[in-house]
Amino acid sequence: MEKRKIAVGCDHGGLEHKEAVKAHLLERGFQVEDFGIHENKSVDYPEIAAPLAEAVAAGDCELGILICGTGIGMSLAANKVKGIRAAACSEHFSAKYTRLHNNSNILCLGGRVIGIGTALELVDLFLDTPFEGGRHQRRVDMITALEEKK
Ligand code: RB5
Repeated sequence: MEKRKIAVGCDHGGLEHKEAVKAHLLERGFQVEDFGIHENKSVDYPEIAAPLAEAVAAGDCELGILICGTGIGMSLAANKVKGIRAAACSEHFSAKYTRLHNNSNILCLGGRVIGIGTALELVDLFLDTPFEGGRHQRRVDMITALEEKK
């Protein structure tokens, strides 16, 4: 069976977390595409969020993990890409339910908000929880329809 491919990316607020998430995913047997950054320098988070979100929207990567200081800037930027549902989460319930109910395809984390241990648990929950479908599909379709209204 082909390995699931997960995209990871961060700015300077999330480098240590991103490296830990990447190592964790590789250890779990996922394929990982790393959109950077690779060294600790200040960058503008939309520069990382945009190509990663486009790769997820295009289906080149199944799901994505984006990490900045809060997780919020990354989610705002990623959600501008058509087909992306990016959720900034800092606790377990949201990381699980944003997959079950929103079919979110990018998890955004705050490197200055949560520790690495929590980050890895949220990543596992996000990747291991399937979309529930049913009535939630109708609601996700309504979000998608908003993309056509611009
Ligand atoms: C960078 O200092 C910081 O603004 C960024 O990592 C993020 O938290 C933005 O939402």
